[in-house]
Amino acid sequence: MTSISWNPTIAICLLMGLIVSRAGSPLAAENPVGSSSEVITEGHQLFNKLCTSCHGIDGAAGDRGPAMAASRRYLRQSDEELFDAIQKGIPGSQMPPMGLPENDAWKIVAWIRSSRARAYSVPVEGDKDKGAEIFWGKGDCGRCHVVRGRGGLLGPDLTNLGAEMSLRQIREGLTVEKPHPPFGYRPVTVKTKDGRTISGVSKNEHNFSLQMIGDDNRLHLFSSDELEKITYREKSLMPSDYDKRLSETEFQDLLAFLSRLSLREYDPNQQPRRNR
Ligand code: HEC
Ligand code: HEC
Repeated sequence: MTSISWNPTIAICLLMGLIVSRAGSPLAAENPVGSSSEVITEGHQLFNKLCTSCHGIDGAAGDRGPAMAASRRYLRQSDEELFDAIQKGIPGSQMPPMGLPENDAWKIVAWIRSSRARAYSVPVEGDKDKGAEIFWGKGDCGRCHVVRGRGGLLGPDLTNLGAEMSLRQIREGLTVEKPHPPFGYRPVTVKTKDGRTISGVSKNEHNFSLQMIGDDNRLHLFSSDELEKITYREKSLMPSDYDKRLSETEFQDLLAFLSRLSLREYDPNQQPRRNR
């Protein structure tokens, strides 16, 4: 048995190393109020009290200021840069120095950061297990969406949703109608010359052919001489009234479930195979 005796020289070296490495990496100012869900809620409330005259409710862009969290690239990313913009203003622009109590400014910074972050990396209130029940039950989401190899094919696969979208984008996806369905999701109904009617979303169109996913969850390929009629619908199949169809608690539970959807938690060996 060897024993290591207490060696003051080693201890001092370790201590020195620690001090040097701390001093050697000038850490950018980190948010002193943290990013708990209480802090974020307070920051959100402060923002909606003080900043909406220019930036719009929830920072959704107003007449006189830009959006706080749209899908653009942000000029100011770090806690410190956001804090400075709020407290000192942005010279040469309409953004005034707000000079708030420091903790209030930091809380707003925490909220801005959380609304920009992918949903997976922020705390989301609600019961995700109940949210899963709503996804597969009352919300009917599983009819059109795959999660982990299970579900319908009309809409996009949501297995990695929490890692791809911010909480705000997810919420808007469920409550705001898009002006046009995105490419690959244009709703279409065809009538074939042999008398069948199939509805679904168009995946690809050429002058002489149409490729679509039907609500039977199958891929159909038609050449135009097989078809009698093609009808498009300009409204996406994705419903946009889930804040009304579901109770407030149900909606929050659903958000909790959706925000946790990430491939990081996906073990293919434990799951049925994906459909594609
Ligand atoms: C009088 C209108 C006005 C008010 C009030 C206002 N802002 Fe601004 N803000 C602006 C404008 C305009 C800009 C864009 C400045 C520029 O040209 O970069 C801006 C920019 C910003 C930016 C930088 C955005 C980025 O991504 O670079 C932040 C952060 C910001 N505002 C936060 C706030 C907060 C928080 C409040 C409330 C405490 C607030 N603002 C109140 C007008 C305003
Ligand atoms: C009738 C089919 C249908 C149902 C039911 C449905 N969706 Fe969708 N969903 C779609 C289609 C199609 C798209 C792609 C087109 C679009 O974004 O409008 C989509 C898009 C989405 C998006 C992406 C939005 C974006 O902005 O990219 C999310 C998130 C989503 N659905 C979640 C859900 C959830 C959660 C439910 C249940 C509460 C649900 N969907 C129910 C068909 C459906």
